[in-house]
Amino acid sequence: MLIRREDAADADAIHAITNAAFARPGQPPGEDTPEATLVGELRAGPAWLPALSLVAVTPAGEVVGHVLCTRGHVGHDPVLGLGPLAVRPDHQGRGVGSALVHAVIGAADALGEPLVALLGDPGYYARFGFRLSSDYQVTPPDPGWQPHFQVRVLAGYQPSVRGPFAYPEPFNRV
Ligand SMILES: CC(C)(COP(=O)(O)OP(=O)(O)OC[C@H]1O[C@@H](n2cnc3c(N)ncnc32)[C@H](O)[C@@H]1OP(=O)(O)O)[C@@H](O)C(=O)NCCC(=O)NCCS
Repeated sequence: MLIRREDAADADAIHAITNAAFARPGQPPGEDTPEATLVGELRAGPAWLPALSLVAVTPAGEVVGHVLCTRGHVGHDPVLGLGPLAVRPDHQGRGVGSALVHAVIGAADALGEPLVALLGDPGYYARFGFRLSSDYQVTPPDPGWQPHFQVRVLAGYQPSVRGPFAYPEPFNRV
């Protein structure tokens, strides 16, 4: 398994993987999931960060996983929002998701970013150093997200980065 930046030929595979990973029971075939639509809208918008959209590729060259961070804010400070994270269902449970999360955190850290925020299961994300956002006085866009809204601080973090977190605009439509 290799992790590399998304390139121009990967968009269709990423779309298919995101649809497969987030498919709901009973979802009509051919209908896009909100997460797959979101990735496309993010890619087309100003919050997209090409250095932080990564794919996992098998030795045969098949794309089987994707992660991205896009530009969010805590108050007026630029930070990152992670997600959607998707691994093709037939490749789940083999470490692909973990490799992607470790890689995107490392890339964000190398870029000098202060923190990464996400909405997800703490039982999964704690292993990557995520803690509840309240530990850093960062509040989620919806107070109901509190038990699942998490932050991973990076080398560029300063405690002055605190307050309300905002995802880039396409997230508001999901
Ligand atoms: C969540 C997801 C990205 C994980 O990728 P993966 O390649 O299957 O994960 P890994 O193989 O690296 O890690 C597997 C570990 O994560 C755990 N795990 C997977 N999904 C989890 C979840 N939702 N909550 C808690 N733990 C989870 C597994 O139990 C396993 O634990 P273990 O290492 O202690 O045995 C993948 O299952 C997926 O695409 N799911 C559907 C989309 C989704 O939910 N995305 C995340 C939204 S925040």
